[in-house]
Amino acid sequence: MSVNKQVKRVTTHVLQAMKAQGEPISMLTAYDYSMAKILDDAGIDVLLVGDSASNVMAGHETTLPITLDEMIYHASSVVRAVKRALVVVDLPFGSYQGNSMKALDSAIRIMKESGAHAIKMEGGKEIEESIIRVLSAGVPVMGHLGLTPQSIYKFGTYVVRAKEEAEALKLKKDATLLEEIGCFSVVLEKIPATLARNVAERLTIPIIGIGAGMGVDGQVLVTHDLLGITKDFQPRFLRTYMDLFEGIKGAVQNYIKDVKERDFPNEKEQY
Ligand code: KIV
Repeated sequence: MSVNKQVKRVTTHVLQAMKAQGEPISMLTAYDYSMAKILDDAGIDVLLVGDSASNVMAGHETTLPITLDEMIYHASSVVRAVKRALVVVDLPFGSYQGNSMKALDSAIRIMKESGAHAIKMEGGKEIEESIIRVLSAGVPVMGHLGLTPQSIYKFGTYVVRAKEEAEALKLKKDATLLEEIGCFSVVLEKIPATLARNVAERLTIPIIGIGAGMGVDGQVLVTHDLLGITKDFQPRFLRTYMDLFEGIKGAVQNYIKDVKERDFPNEKEQY
């Protein structure tokens, strides 16, 4: 039987066992109670309270504006819904870079105030000290390399990262470093599939890809993208499983029509 089916709660150790047995890990974003309940009930392994909430929930252009307090609000809503999945929360921009004490304070606030199980941090060597300090408090850390949206103003665009030799080499070194210092997993975003496969084969911790091809240990997508709620985001790596934008729009149009025609509520729908 699969590792996944045997467990009541997914932990970082379960993810490690899944990698060891070649069992793919499923991960999606969640930012609120109702959606997290559906995703957990569906059997998702990991729920990421991503700072993509800044785009998806708040309508910002980048992930930079979201605050630690806002992340804690989203994370605690998700945690209240979840019975089985591992809940990982992004440390938002400005809450950990360049100051390991601040990183520790931010991670501890997330763990204490939301009840989440782990945190995620973007970057490699440059945030090594912050990651080590967070890990020293017993907080599990997931790394994030490749396209790291919190550095979008450094990159300039959202194009595929690490296509050039030098950047690919740095990414491999960073991934090895993250494993060595104790991260339990690493997300690789929007990099060539061969590079991602190479990293997943060399490392023993699970590598979760988004736009990183088939050769990694698991996949993550933004839930609103795969459900077709975010209409204007159509990268090559995205598979859309529903057109919920049109589905919801159609349902709301029917409701409006029923109200206007005095068809809703009917006799059975009143007291
Ligand atoms: O914030 C987020 O949704 C993420 C995923 C894209 C991995 O970091």
